Amino acid sequence: MKSANNIYLIGPMGSGKSAVARRLASQLGLEFHDSDEEIEVRTGVDILYIFDREGEAGFRKRESAVIAELVELDGIVLATGGGVAQDPDNRRLLAANGIVVYLYTSVAEQIRRTRKSRHRPLLNNGNPAEVLQQLMDKRDGQYREIADLLIETDGRQVASVTKQLRLEVQALQVDAAGREQAK
Ligand code: S3P
Repeated sequence: MKSANNIYLIGPMGSGKSAVARRLASQLGLEFHDSDEEIEVRTGVDILYIFDREGEAGFRKRESAVIAELVELDGIVLATGGGVAQDPDNRRLLAANGIVVYLYTSVAEQIRRTRKSRHRPLLNNGNPAEVLQQLMDKRDGQYREIADLLIETDGRQVASVTKQLRLEVQALQVDAAGREQAK
């Protein structure tokens, strides 16, 4: 049975996963984790450097290893990297161990929110708008495949997205508790 005490945020770059996860964790008294941050802490270097030295394939291996460890924890809110759902094992692990929330964000909004960012290797070469569109075409279905909840973030502040998410997660938790009691 998947734990209703773990909340995993998935979605594209610029969907606000880290900011929303941090705020939600503090409101719910859960531990905040960010898979990109964990990779950086473990390696002692940033993600740009990992992509540079090991390519995307090297980064994906590290990402899968970190996901496999983080799904063992109980009582966490996890912000994942935008590419996490590409890998079937990552999808299986996330779906099996917590409530998965897709922060849906249109490509136009992703472009606006990532415009000034320099720390995202996939956006540093080529046309960011085209890259974000291609990634969305490929990944939207993968996110939806494992999402228990989908929250739209376009034009919204972190506080508003977090509040909706908290209410929807709590409703799911009440349902899960009810099913347990009825057993
Ligand atoms: C990536 C998204 C990034 C980070 C890496 C690759 C992706 O995370 O994991 O740069 O493939 O979409 P954010 O979604 O937090 O920007």
